[in-house]
Amino acid sequence: MNKIFKKIMQYIFQIFFRKKVAIRDSWIVTPKKQRNMLEFLCWFDRTKSVVESISSGQVDWEHRFKRFKHFNSVTKGIALEIGFGGGRLLAHAAKDFDKVIGVDIHQNFAMSKKFLALNNITNYQLIKRSEMSGISPNSIDYVYSFIVFQHFDSFKEVKFYLDHIHRILTNDGVAHIYFGKNNSDGVEVTKDGKFYLRDCSLFINIKTMKSLIEENFKIISIKDKVVKDPVKNIGESVQSMIIFKRLD
Ligand SMILES: C[S@@+](CC[C@H](N)C(=O)[O-])C[C@H]1O[C@@H](n2cnc3c(N)ncnc32)[C@H](O)[C@@H]1O
Repeated sequence: MNKIFKKIMQYIFQIFFRKKVAIRDSWIVTPKKQRNMLEFLCWFDRTKSVVESISSGQVDWEHRFKRFKHFNSVTKGIALEIGFGGGRLLAHAAKDFDKVIGVDIHQNFAMSKKFLALNNITNYQLIKRSEMSGISPNSIDYVYSFIVFQHFDSFKEVKFYLDHIHRILTNDGVAHIYFGKNNSDGVEVTKDGKFYLRDCSLFINIKTMKSLIEENFKIISIKDKVVKDPVKNIGESVQSMIIFKRLD
């Protein structure tokens, strides 16, 4: 009964109080003014404390990326994180790679840097989306992204990053990308007018993603169903995932 009441209240809250906004703008602008570390980190991934953010980052880094077979054989030179947010995953990736480059569209890199400094991480570089073309061809050993592609505002954005991944991956380099799952055919994108703050907005059917990746890459692994809680091994995530290398 309590649960049903809570659900009804949440629904009413959503109808009346959640703001409808432009998708991309919300990711660019909202974190800009945040000066409180906990609030800043919560924007990217809800957390109860700064310490919890770093430990959830460790769980995700270990279970979502490191435990996969190919990870051991990846050269641990330079990695690229697409959508690093506060930096909770980058902080752990930086312990495994010589350097991690993070790209994001948000406008508060200063707070991400502060968070990384709190965790004694120095071997990283944060870049804007417009600086992607500054990454040298054949220079990145590993590209990873978690809970980011599901927040894009267009399928064109997926192609933008895939084109760069194809250009910057080394011959043996690997990309490991999580993306919003679409149980219907093709691609679905939420229209700006129907978007509520922090919702997922881009959903791709696994077959569509497979065909797209196969145009230029060799698939190492593809999973439609991803577990929601990787520690307890329960639930189903809203994301699917794909691991791939360059064809040539
Ligand atoms: C839910 S947060 C996840 C952050 C981080 N990956 C994590 O796991 O904590 C989504 C992130 O994607 C970023 N983002 C959204 N659209 C993007 C785009 N087009 N290019 C790069 N980053 C983007 C947002 O700014 C935000 O940092």
